[in-house]
Amino acid sequence: MNEFEKFLAKNETLLSIKNRRSTREFSDQQVSDEDIQTILCAANQAPSAHNQQSWRFVILKGLRKNELAEFVSLKSKDFPRPSSILLRMAARSIASAPIAVAVVNTGELMDRGTELFKVDKNQAHNFFRIMEIQSSAAAVQNLMLAAGSIGLATVWLGILVLVTKEVLQFLDEPEGEFMAIIPVGYALKTGKGPSKKPLAQVVKYL
Ligand SMILES: Cc1cc2nc3c(=O)[nH]c(=O)nc-3n(C[C@H](O)[C@H](O)[C@H](O)COP(=O)(O)O)c2cc1C
Repeated sequence: MNEFEKFLAKNETLLSIKNRRSTREFSDQQVSDEDIQTILCAANQAPSAHNQQSWRFVILKGLRKNELAEFVSLKSKDFPRPSSILLRMAARSIASAPIAVAVVNTGELMDRGTELFKVDKNQAHNFFRIMEIQSSAAAVQNLMLAAGSIGLATVWLGILVLVTKEVLQFLDEPEGEFMAIIPVGYALKTGKGPSKKPLAQVVKYL
């Protein structure tokens, strides 16, 4: 048993991290408004570059959520395999989950970054874009871990970046940068998910 496994029995945070697995099929069970607020609070609690909190969360339910699923399914026909398959799978996950959370970067850090950080204008765009992406990624992970800790299942859908312009229009966030859609609900079936690489393969000590 490694150190991580030893810890799982006594630390709920580590247990949530270990138990989080992507779920792509959801049951009909609805998610309460209170639970939605809980996971959004967790997302909003994430660290962010220069504390700019340059994220927006758009909640899709009912008709609007289903319209997005239909749009993604339709758009999948414009792409070759395997992108078309991944887009169709994403559409099915969005359709089957009771809610989906879209995460969009506001661009505020990109707008104000040069003045805040006093960096060269030529470096600024790439630097602040990466900072916003990393901040939103932390928020997505917080949301997914919080969801898992209260019995909800999620999957991080990045494939919609392929249709980013249309998705931003759909979300009424045309100025933002689209990050991800996270369907949230109760898992239809639970699986172990793919295995992780051994630490020895991904860690080196200098
Ligand atoms: C940036 C990012 C983008 C992802 N995009 C997709 C996606 O478009 N469709 C999908 O089914 N899963 C997507 N995933 C989920 C991964 O496939 C999943 O995390 C991986 O296979 C490991 O499985 P696990 O989440 O159960 O540990 C994405 C995950 C990340 C972090």
